[in-house]
Amino acid sequence: MNTINNVNIIDIPKVHDERGFLAVIEKETIPFSIKRVYYLYDVPTESSRGGHAHKEQESVIIALSGSFEVVVDDGNSKKRIMLNKPNKGLYIPTGIWREIDNFSSGAVCFVLASTEYDEAEYIRDYEVFKG
Ligand code: TYD
Repeated sequence: MNTINNVNIIDIPKVHDERGFLAVIEKETIPFSIKRVYYLYDVPTESSRGGHAHKEQESVIIALSGSFEVVVDDGNSKKRIMLNKPNKGLYIPTGIWREIDNFSSGAVCFVLASTEYDEAEYIRDYEVFKG
């Protein structure tokens, strides 16, 4: 059973020169093999996204542009993490409830996922999640 202690920040290696930064995600960077990538953009500041946990899917969330906050919750404890750097990924294992809010203007929330999209592996009811 995962707890919020299993949520962690992954450093995405970057290359810097006078022309700017280049960040690289290779298979060693992410603790699962990537099956799907999706991203949220043009999100109104007052929106709250997420609001679910996954039975199967592991994810890494990256603020490719701008900033937002992710609340992770294992049913006992929660923590709020601000993401605002394109070379930091938030790893979320299975069984962790997440909500994403406080999107800045122009924020892009980029998600690497370990599974194909399957609504059946979502838990969208917080009471069911809490058990
Ligand atoms: P939803 O899970 O509510 O997004 P968020 O995690 O930001 O709260 O998904 C929004 C809609 O998009 C919902 O109808 C499901 C659909 N969707 C897909 O079709 N494919 C996907 O890979 C994802 C993540 C969502």
